[in-house]
Amino acid sequence: MNILPFVFYALILGSVLYAFLNLSSRKSARLPPGPTPWPIVGNLPHLGPIPHHALAALAKKYGPLMHLRLGCVDVVVAASASVAAQFLKVHDANFASRPPNSGAKHVAYNYQDLVFAPYGPRWRLLRKICSVHLFSAKALDDFRHVRQEEVAVLTRVLVSAGNSPVQLGQLLNVCATNALARVMLGRRVFGDGIDRSANEFKDMVVELMVLAGEFNLGDFIPVLDLFDLQGITKKMKKLHVRFDSFLSKIVEEHKTAPGGLGHTDLLSTLISLKDDADIEGGKLTDTEIKALLLNLFAAGTDTSSSTVEWAIAELIRHPQILKQAREEIDAVVGQDRLVTELDLSQLTYLQALVKEVFRLHPSTPLSLPRISSESCEVDGYYIPKGSTLLVNVWAIARDPKMWADPLEFRPSRFLPGGEKPGADVRGNDFEVIPFGAGRRICAGMSLGLRMVQLLIATLVQTFDWELANGLEPEMLNMEEAYGLTLQRAAPLMVHPKPRLAPHVYESI
Ligand code: HEM
Repeated sequence: MNILPFVFYALILGSVLYAFLNLSSRKSARLPPGPTPWPIVGNLPHLGPIPHHALAALAKKYGPLMHLRLGCVDVVVAASASVAAQFLKVHDANFASRPPNSGAKHVAYNYQDLVFAPYGPRWRLLRKICSVHLFSAKALDDFRHVRQEEVAVLTRVLVSAGNSPVQLGQLLNVCATNALARVMLGRRVFGDGIDRSANEFKDMVVELMVLAGEFNLGDFIPVLDLFDLQGITKKMKKLHVRFDSFLSKIVEEHKTAPGGLGHTDLLSTLISLKDDADIEGGKLTDTEIKALLLNLFAAGTDTSSSTVEWAIAELIRHPQILKQAREEIDAVVGQDRLVTELDLSQLTYLQALVKEVFRLHPSTPLSLPRISSESCEVDGYYIPKGSTLLVNVWAIARDPKMWADPLEFRPSRFLPGGEKPGADVRGNDFEVIPFGAGRRICAGMSLGLRMVQLLIATLVQTFDWELANGLEPEMLNMEEAYGLTLQRAAPLMVHPKPRLAPHVYESI
């Protein structure tokens, strides 16, 4: 059947109706400036292949608070620290939920997860469970040895690479996933080094981020949802089946044989909460448990591992900075043992270096979208109820009004005498908010920060780094690929050369 005429008439009717309803409800309210929308699709064509780049370029023309119409949806974009603070601090309560989207529906178990749960008791319960069992200071300290052991395993794998080049991001991903899995499930999910299922898992998470980062026409033009013209919904449904079988297997296995850490792992706790009708917000179903695991695996693995991959790429391009970071570690830790999490607080230069990586390579460049539950006013502009908010954290952290030579990788800017001494990345200083800010700030921020710091410190301390195939550092491709998370366009291929005495590696 030829559906095109039907689609065409539905679009015309839909857009006329939309324009009518829109005009009558807004009267003369002044929206923020923005590019003129095209009929029907609005500003969707303006987003280009890498939306955070296109939106940053548009903000240069229209200003740090922009209004776009994507199909039928009002979208406001924040592209400066002060505008982001308006939304995420002053109006945070009004933007505490996320907009409806096909990823939440088809992959994240129809919004039964934490990331897309509407703001309310259910969201609060899921977040509380995670913060108590995974992210509280006590939980983080209790599982410190797990992270250190997994980082030591990674170090051994890198030593064993010998003269063969390694795809660093892949190995970092295995490390981050196993460290998280041991806390969540009480066991690893992948073998050491290159494991076929680990490759498949990383591919699944990256595919999820690519699909979640696509602007699906059906999310913006409801009449098109049925037709799935880009094939995104179909891919999401297929991916969901793969994730679901991975997660169902884990949950079923856990019911019969709880994880190796006894009943202290998160999944055992979730399973025991399942039948507890007294907990605030009601019972947890199997589906909600799987949805939460999916969130944590998806949000907590590739974000950390790709940040560290960017860090090593920057350090290879900036040998002086690598040298300075290494001298600090040698002075504080020495060369006879591996750096541990307890050393991190004394590594001031390393902390600044990590902030600089998060500034230039924030792993979620447009953060995660929010939606306004009521209309409001920001900087004198009218923000309609139901607007999607995008915060361009990538552009904010490169704003030349806030940062000197913003494109330069220069950790000293965060040190005394630099332009932002002491600025933190935890959602208080809006010039650099890689974890977002406000009520829906990244739930795993403390864990993510610790893992990224420990990994970077260890890789700086234990290896010299050379690019594969004799590539000169200045030739390294630093382009970004498309997706909700900031992947490198070309995976980093390196030769790790152990720099400490052999007995240090033998003892781990
Ligand atoms: C490099 C590390 C990470 C970065 C840069 C990062 C970034 C982000 C960002 C920007 C958001 C959206 C915040 C907002 O709406 O304002 C977010 C949300 C979230 N992140 Fe992370 N993340 C990281 C690591 C992790 C880890 C390790 C976990 C868990 C294991 C995690 C779990 C979550 C969850 C559950 C949410 C949703 C929170 C909610 O909706 O209430 N993230 N993250």
